[in-house]
Amino acid sequence: MTLLLGALLAALSPSCGWGNQDGTPPGVTGLRVEYLTDPQGIDAARPRLSWRITSTERNTVQAAYSLQVARSETDLARGDHLLWDSGRVTSDVSLFVDYAGPPLESRTRYVWRVRVWDASGRASAWSAIGTWETGLLQPDDWTATWIGTAPVAADSLPAASPLFRRAFRVTGPVRSARLYVTSLGLYEVHLNGQRAGDRLFTPGWTSYHRRLQYQTYDVTSLLHPGDNAVGVMLGDGWYRGQLGFSGQRNVYGRRVALRLQLEIRYQDARAERVVSDPQWKTIPGPVLASDIYGGETYDARQEHPGWAAAPYDDHAWVAVAPLDPPAATLVASESVAPLDPPAATLVASESPPVRRIREVRPVAVRRAPSGETVFDLGQNFSGWARLAVRGPAGTVVTLRYAEVLDRDGNLYTANLRRASQTDRYTLKGEGEERYEPHFTFHGFRYVGVTGLPAPATTGTITGIVVSSDLAATGSFETSDSLLNRLQQNIVWGQRSNFLDVPTDCPQRDERLGWTGDAQVFARTAAFNLDVAGFFSKWLADLAADQDPSGSLPWVIPNPLGGDSTRFAGTAGWSDAAVIVPWTMYLAYGDRRLLERQYTSMRAWVEYERRRAGADLIWRPGWQFGDWLAFHSDDPSYPGATTGTDLIATAFLAHSADLTARAAAALGRDADATRYAALSRAVRAAFDREFVSTAGRVGENTQTAYALALAFDLLPDSLVPTAADRLAADIRARDVHLTTGFLGTPHLLPVLAATGHVDLAYELLTQRSYPSWLYPISRGATTMWERWDGIRPDSSFEDPGMNSFNHYAFGAVGDWMYRTIGGIDADPQVPGYRRARIAPRPGGGLTSARASLETLYGTLSSAWRRDAQRFVLEVTVPPNTSAEVTLWETQVDQVREGERPLSGAPGVRDVRQRGRDVVVIVGSGNYELTVSRTP
Ligand code: BGC
Repeated sequence: MTLLLGALLAALSPSCGWGNQDGTPPGVTGLRVEYLTDPQGIDAARPRLSWRITSTERNTVQAAYSLQVARSETDLARGDHLLWDSGRVTSDVSLFVDYAGPPLESRTRYVWRVRVWDASGRASAWSAIGTWETGLLQPDDWTATWIGTAPVAADSLPAASPLFRRAFRVTGPVRSARLYVTSLGLYEVHLNGQRAGDRLFTPGWTSYHRRLQYQTYDVTSLLHPGDNAVGVMLGDGWYRGQLGFSGQRNVYGRRVALRLQLEIRYQDARAERVVSDPQWKTIPGPVLASDIYGGETYDARQEHPGWAAAPYDDHAWVAVAPLDPPAATLVASESVAPLDPPAATLVASESPPVRRIREVRPVAVRRAPSGETVFDLGQNFSGWARLAVRGPAGTVVTLRYAEVLDRDGNLYTANLRRASQTDRYTLKGEGEERYEPHFTFHGFRYVGVTGLPAPATTGTITGIVVSSDLAATGSFETSDSLLNRLQQNIVWGQRSNFLDVPTDCPQRDERLGWTGDAQVFARTAAFNLDVAGFFSKWLADLAADQDPSGSLPWVIPNPLGGDSTRFAGTAGWSDAAVIVPWTMYLAYGDRRLLERQYTSMRAWVEYERRRAGADLIWRPGWQFGDWLAFHSDDPSYPGATTGTDLIATAFLAHSADLTARAAAALGRDADATRYAALSRAVRAAFDREFVSTAGRVGENTQTAYALALAFDLLPDSLVPTAADRLAADIRARDVHLTTGFLGTPHLLPVLAATGHVDLAYELLTQRSYPSWLYPISRGATTMWERWDGIRPDSSFEDPGMNSFNHYAFGAVGDWMYRTIGGIDADPQVPGYRRARIAPRPGGGLTSARASLETLYGTLSSAWRRDAQRFVLEVTVPPNTSAEVTLWETQVDQVREGERPLSGAPGVRDVRQRGRDVVVIVGSGNYELTVSRTP
């Protein structure tokens, strides 16, 4: 970066004509700590500080910054008692600056601000103040003990959710109060009758035996002088409910338990703690049973009004039981050892929480032939229905959930397999009752209701959409409404499946962190939503669950058990260990994350190498291969099956290549050389084994070509012929694809990169099946697991494997952003510090627009065209630059605004590269017009 800065400053001398010496100084905004805004309860020992620069001018770069950290706003304003004052640091770095003050203390609030100087030496004002608060950093900060209910014989069966409570006195005016909570199973915490915070499914799903999260809540406003009470309800959740497709339960343990610490600081500087300990009391609550797959059974007559408040008569409650031995010990999060963790580590949450993110009203209510009242919410999603009902006590209302209806109009539930996703609510008979489940979620569009005491209205049911609350970062829109619907379906698929863990699907008895699905979708995911913290958490679990051999479980977190080869170690799935960290590095430029994952990346590649053996061809045991590649009995679609040895060897070459790049980025030169050599050697082995001298690859399948071309496995001389063979196969199938999970993401990129961009568009806009748009013609509102989930004759695919909400094939979104919209990252300068903008119009589109909130700010590309002109509007965030490619034109045919290109403010370089014009621009908004001379 320092070198880069030097070059930039040199280039910025006033004589080059595009500097911004006059005008207003830059501003600073968007302060972040790690990936979060003003986080509370984080446990990074050296949190990274990031900011965004604002500017009304073009070509703004940061030449220097100054950071100050203190314990209070007053200290900061006065410049007194600063904990850290960086002074003026000559640097263009505005993301992930390590805090370098004295060691941080637990439960402490820090405030900070930053100012920057631009290349002309103009200083910004100090930013608004940002904050962060540490959690409990040391093991002995936790004085709370684990508590649960007394063990009973039926500990391994579904049980009523226990309630826990403790009354306490607040003895003076409170300055601040924090609640630190974790649990085995899921928890909901209440103070004085009010729910603390709006996080759902806490403490989240991690590799529970190794990493257990806790959350911090600011509960200052929920306390009052006098009698107070804290109450917690626990649910089975992932910890002890059903989990996995074999019907297993109690994967992590038999008993749910709580560990909670309420810390009160009084105005007069006294401090007090209320902690989980043997003085707490417990009783079964109204949730009679809850299960992630099965749904929830709730009896409102069993509620205990006022249970989480004081005063309250709890004489019927019984003493809690301590849990021994303690199931988790505390160590600061950064000490997580990837391959041999000693015991569960208590870590602060780093991903944005799961929340209710939207409500949807029914679009239709019908009586189904089954007799059920069926509510159509118009959209497939994850969450549940809120029921509003009046009726006599004891009435049971049952809600079943399904993604689609069968031909008769009944809920189709065969594809849910063992997941019954049914909620049952028993009324207490007191006016209007509203019910939402607590410890389950469903994947659905339709709700079938029975037992309603009065005729249904559209107000009876409201859809509650639940997801990890990740900020929308991307937008993509074109002049083709079907492509726009495809984009929406991809985003709905992501929202539905990014529920604390990137899952395969949200409805059947899986909902697991399938590594292959996450791997293929990660790049698309990082366009649509801010997934930095989300994947950072998941990757920590991936490293934690990695086998000492380097092998990886199929799913992360791993409830399937198995050893290094059973339910583990498969090409394209376990390669998530390498591909996902690399993808995050591209999208966010976070070097520390890459460093943290590096041991895990290397361990996986070494495992693959050993499996391949001396000839470097991985002839595997069990592999998923090009999972769910289109296969049909129709004689016009033969040969969709690509050999698993070809696929596994291709992924070995690719992962070795990415590991070499990661090593180079991290300055591990010996490793960079080693893995680059390994990748080359595997490539040579691949060519010997699978590539003919005439450019035929493997079984001549689309996936064989897509992988070989995407991973750069072919001799240069054979690339055009191999690409032509791929194109010929697609044309021979009347422009249809035959690819599965692994081939699909690479199909359009390799076509576009090898001179077949028109064919890529034809494939993308193909409406007949198999294609991306076919499901839309069948009313799909999310991505389907299979190309033919509902066949043209309206029959369903095999119910054993037919999810209507699987994002894997949505990996095409990456191509839509990068090639239609034209926004891409430059791996040499990741995190969009230097972006690439190169839209390739096609497919009859007259306009397209893509934008991305990068960590530096908004990057966008919007084009429109007619017979005379192609107009490209570009926005480049401050402190970054972009390389803009205009296809097939000449420099003198391009104008920026009203001016010729060269000399326009902010335009740093203009070049003719072959038939294309390449323009380097600094930050700012540009309008590039290419006139098409007849
Ligand atoms: C899941 C997938 C997963 C696959 C493994 C399925 O049951 O739903 O999406 O990747 O198994 O091939």
